Amino acid sequence: MKKVEYDFLIIGSGLAGMYCALQAAEHGSVALISKRELSECNSKYAQGGISCVMSDINDQDSFELHVSDTLKAGAGLCDEKVVTDIVSAGPTAIQKLIDLGVKFTRRSEVDESDDDESGQYNLGREGGHSQRRVLHAGDITGTEVIRALEKACRQEDRIEVFENFHAIDLITTGKLGWGLDKNNCLGAYILDKDNELVTTFLAKSTILATGGAGKVYTYTTNPDIATGDGIAMAYRANADIANMEFFQFHPTCLFDHRINSFLISEAVRGEGAILKIRRKNELVDFMEKYHELKSLAPRDVVARAIDRELKETGEKCVYLDITHHNEEFLRKRFPKIFATCESIGLNMAKDPIPVVPAAHYCCGGVKTDICGTTNITRLYAIGETACTGLHGANRLASNSLLEAVVMGGKSAECAAEMNASLSQSILQTQMNAVPSWTSGNATDSDEQVVITHNWQEMRSFMWDFVGIFRTNKRLQRAKRRIRNIQHEITHYYWDFNITPDLIELRNLACLSELIIDCALSRQESRGLHFNHDFPQKSDTAIESHLRKF
Ligand code: FAD
Ligand code: SIN
Repeated sequence: MKKVEYDFLIIGSGLAGMYCALQAAEHGSVALISKRELSECNSKYAQGGISCVMSDINDQDSFELHVSDTLKAGAGLCDEKVVTDIVSAGPTAIQKLIDLGVKFTRRSEVDESDDDESGQYNLGREGGHSQRRVLHAGDITGTEVIRALEKACRQEDRIEVFENFHAIDLITTGKLGWGLDKNNCLGAYILDKDNELVTTFLAKSTILATGGAGKVYTYTTNPDIATGDGIAMAYRANADIANMEFFQFHPTCLFDHRINSFLISEAVRGEGAILKIRRKNELVDFMEKYHELKSLAPRDVVARAIDRELKETGEKCVYLDITHHNEEFLRKRFPKIFATCESIGLNMAKDPIPVVPAAHYCCGGVKTDICGTTNITRLYAIGETACTGLHGANRLASNSLLEAVVMGGKSAECAAEMNASLSQSILQTQMNAVPSWTSGNATDSDEQVVITHNWQEMRSFMWDFVGIFRTNKRLQRAKRRIRNIQHEITHYYWDFNITPDLIELRNLACLSELIIDCALSRQESRGLHFNHDFPQKSDTAIESHLRKF
């Protein structure tokens, strides 16, 4: 089996991973690992944009207001220092993206009558933001950002790209039983999917940038890569995990059987779209019953309101009505959403869009500081994989791309400093001693159906029992089921040759259990977590924490 060594091992090639790779390359050799092609990631699908205070464009805005909106959405569980640090790092981070070639939309591109000669950027607005402060590239912000980063990464000699390489597990001194005082991460075992071989990747520092875990649920806005691999790997290596019960459901995913997982951006509500429900053959507003910001209330409030309305009326979807804008504006401001609606016979300027909530963002994750530092030496976690304290109990829209880029830069700096402090001789002894991957008595599986069945069963009970509304009984039911599935996976994992599906199933089961355990431990309702048996917020706000041993 092959063994390779780098200064930095970066697992995941979304915004956080690619941005980190570019910064880390200034300090040493980088292996950039992606389980699919380099550009396939949650970041690529981001629509609304990146929140950042741009006071030269909007003089009403300030860091204080952005911090205050973030804290309000986070329902008492944000870390105010982290929020302040990330928010105030925004303008520099945005400038770096612009320097890398990211083209954000300018005012005159949205509105031809706007004769702004300074070429200022157009700022969008989203739920929970008191100001317009979201930089965007039409409604394909993620695609544009990833385009620029991919180009830069491929041009950088010190970055070696490994596509179709799927990380299985971290290599830590703790797991190897070396009896060192502190648990150190030495790298990871990674499956080369094309050659069906497991390579041992060793590195001075390992950075997990594997994104979120939307595939835990039946209905999600996330692409297939979002299986929580990094959080599960870190948990198995004894990293601290926090706040997993706070899974964000985006209120407006397109409801149409022909289109899979397509988001209708919150920026559409930012431009004045109103949520409506069908009652007695008429579409009527309902959000004023739930929040003073109506359709632009924070996501947790809107998703719960929609769920309640759907249950009460027996309707299958609600509607997003933006017909007060003309077609020309909508085509320019939301080109992708307009075209997608058009492909199913809807004209946004004339027809309300059918939408439902879907699992969207994992606010919990590997507990880190703003540099991605974990409780395991030489292991970092960044972007959606991490839980820094920025989002608390509910993420403010468009804050995650900001967090990904800020952490990407800071983690590269911190890891570079740590790398420089390592003793070469100890490193070499450790590296030589790492054993190759062993997969037990592996034979080929003739029961692939077990994997697909368990995958579907798990996502379905997670949706029904651990979704927008929870009860103790539902959570206990889910806990019993996940235990069975975990048992079966362990059996199959060790008895049959590993496949990417099996790796992901094992990780999704781990994530489901972490979400259920955190949800069971929280005896209150706060932010995204609502339990009918504890409908009130408790007086003290505390993070939930899990560690394997
Ligand atoms: P990702 O971009 O998801 O990257 C993860 C990477 O890890 C991928 O390359 C994946 O292939 C790789 N990977 C995963 N597991 C493994 C493994 N085992 N081995 C090797 N590689 C692995 N946020 C905003 O702030 N603004 C928005 O407008 C916005 N819109 C969104 C719209 C949609 C439809 C979705 C789904 C999310 C949106 N979000 C938005 C959230 C935001 O996109 C994500 O939180 C953010 O992009 C996460 O970035 P990341 O770099 O941490 O992870
Ligand atoms: C959206 O465009 O609605 C998504 C924004 C986000 O998830 O932050």
